[in-house]
Amino acid sequence: MRDALDATPYDALLLLSFGGPEGPDEVVPFLENVTRGRGIPKERLKEVGQHYFLFGGVSPINDQNRALLDALRKDFAEHGPDLPVYWGNRNWGPYLTDTLREMVADGRRRVLVLATSAYASYSGCRQYREDLAGALATLEGEGLELPRIDKLRHYFNHPGFIEPMTEGVLKSLAELPEDVRAGAHIAFTTHSIPDAAADTSGPVEAHGDGGAYVRQHLDVARTVADAVRERTGTDHPWRLVYQSRSGAPHIPWLEPDICDHLEELHGAGVPAVVMAPIGFVSDHMEVLYDLDTEATAKAAELGLPVRRSATVGADPRFTAAIRDLVLERAATERGEAVPPCALGTLGPSHDLCPVGCCPGPHTQARRRGRRQPVRMRSTVTATANDELKAELLEIALDAAHRAGAFLRDGRPDDLGVAATKSSAVDVVTEMDIASEKLITGLLADVRPDDGVLGEEGADIRGSSGVQWVIDPIDGTVNYLYGLPSWAVSIAVRKDGETLVGVVHVPMRGETYRAVLGQGAYVNDRPARVRPAPDLGLALVGTGFGYLADRRTRQAEVVGQLISQVRDIRRGGSAAIDLCDVATGRLDAYYERGLNPWDYAAGDLIAREAGALTGGRPGEPLSTELTVAAPPGLFEPLQARLDELGAWHD
Ligand code: IPD
Repeated sequence: MRDALDATPYDALLLLSFGGPEGPDEVVPFLENVTRGRGIPKERLKEVGQHYFLFGGVSPINDQNRALLDALRKDFAEHGPDLPVYWGNRNWGPYLTDTLREMVADGRRRVLVLATSAYASYSGCRQYREDLAGALATLEGEGLELPRIDKLRHYFNHPGFIEPMTEGVLKSLAELPEDVRAGAHIAFTTHSIPDAAADTSGPVEAHGDGGAYVRQHLDVARTVADAVRERTGTDHPWRLVYQSRSGAPHIPWLEPDICDHLEELHGAGVPAVVMAPIGFVSDHMEVLYDLDTEATAKAAELGLPVRRSATVGADPRFTAAIRDLVLERAATERGEAVPPCALGTLGPSHDLCPVGCCPGPHTQARRRGRRQPVRMRSTVTATANDELKAELLEIALDAAHRAGAFLRDGRPDDLGVAATKSSAVDVVTEMDIASEKLITGLLADVRPDDGVLGEEGADIRGSSGVQWVIDPIDGTVNYLYGLPSWAVSIAVRKDGETLVGVVHVPMRGETYRAVLGQGAYVNDRPARVRPAPDLGLALVGTGFGYLADRRTRQAEVVGQLISQVRDIRRGGSAAIDLCDVATGRLDAYYERGLNPWDYAAGDLIAREAGALTGGRPGEPLSTELTVAAPPGLFEPLQARLDELGAWHD
């Protein structure tokens, strides 16, 4: 540990944590915060909240953080540096934004942040950084002078984190009955995350199978196991396993699960197991429920003696490690050379995350770029329809992102026309065909009983009542010419009703999505139509078909309409036009001659964002005519288009 107690240039430390409910009434609102933007229904959250209700609705994490906060303040008071310590959470009070506001009021200008997550990954690092950025943006909007914030490096391999865990494992081994102790295995556990998130964790150049998340945990496990062997003289076999999986069942997450692992060990005749939760800084709900309740019950059922080793919590070696990390970073900022402390083989983690480190969920699948084996959901519950919608949305997002990445990264410079359809200008490129194949191939794996209708010829009946409507490239002519307005559009219908719509626009970095009855989003922001202007002030999007006669007629309608509205736009992708209505970038959109794959996803997104959609007055939208606009503009525009004969050639 270091002697110099100078924390300059920093004037505060912020303990940044996840947050958790402190009573039964707070459980669902807390889970709503955690899952914001994902449209998970309240009923489902109540089910998920069962773990908390078992503990009186109280998450242990807040008391753990209070203890760590006290220990840190005590440690700093005893040893220095003279640095105030604050506490803020991402998902529950005290909220990060409020704490930062308080820090600004206290005059803090350079803030160091300690996250209660020790390893790399999107959810363990970047999401904390994104929330910090969001909180700063809010304060900026309030006109406050923003402090500069630096996040401390990952501390998974700091001796002050590893040593208490080693001691915990030794203690648990000692607690096992003597006759099984020597043969005990160690199951090091951490939070399971999606394979795609694990693979893309850490700096880009290091991405490979397992990424930094798994490598860092393996390094910690090996270091602890080696230290245990040194101190006991016994070689306890070990394995890194996972716990607390969530998310849709068809998305692969890190395995094996601790309960499956216990069964396997028992089957192999292993006499006892120590479960060592190295992925957790303190006794989070995952430790208390998934290990102490669920896995312990599984072991009891098997007749397998198990012990769970302690997490680091507020161990004085850990608080000293935090002091050490603060001083190390302060010295680095002052330009002084400092030898960083780290055990294991990986060396100290970086101070500044490189660009592309731990990408968010939407880019993980693209980076990973390979198909995953699939497990199917088998349970049917009272909320089956909502669960189905959530599952379909995840698959649609995954498929759209994979196809979008393929189209964006794989577009040949000499892309030519592979075939034509309704006319010589209605083109199909080899990329339309390949993109549709990619999506239908994925669907065949994960939803083999569903029907599929695709622009490039996919026409599968299916037996499940679910139908996927796919436009592998909407805006093909834009794509052919290298213009950026093209999209992958995927809608999912059940018994004729559209449940899910996804329009992914890679060149905008935007994904629009909607689930029936659950609102529309662009990336993670809610999408909302613009308030209706008078028809004369409306910016209206439209498009033209591929047949010469139709285009002539469409031009006549535009010729009449253009003087009666603010202006007319022709973007070249009906799906994007509908999403532009959903986000207020257009006031309205209409077109004659669209096919279901052009409008199915965009129609739901526009409606869920508050637009009305339809065809001729009183008719639903169809190939004859598609109109979308907020209430108040929709009606006069629809009437005007009808008068102008926009519905016929
Ligand atoms: C076309 C686009 C275009 C619209 C055409 C559609 P495609 O779809 O959506 O904006 O005006 O009517 O056919 O051929 O690019 O998939």
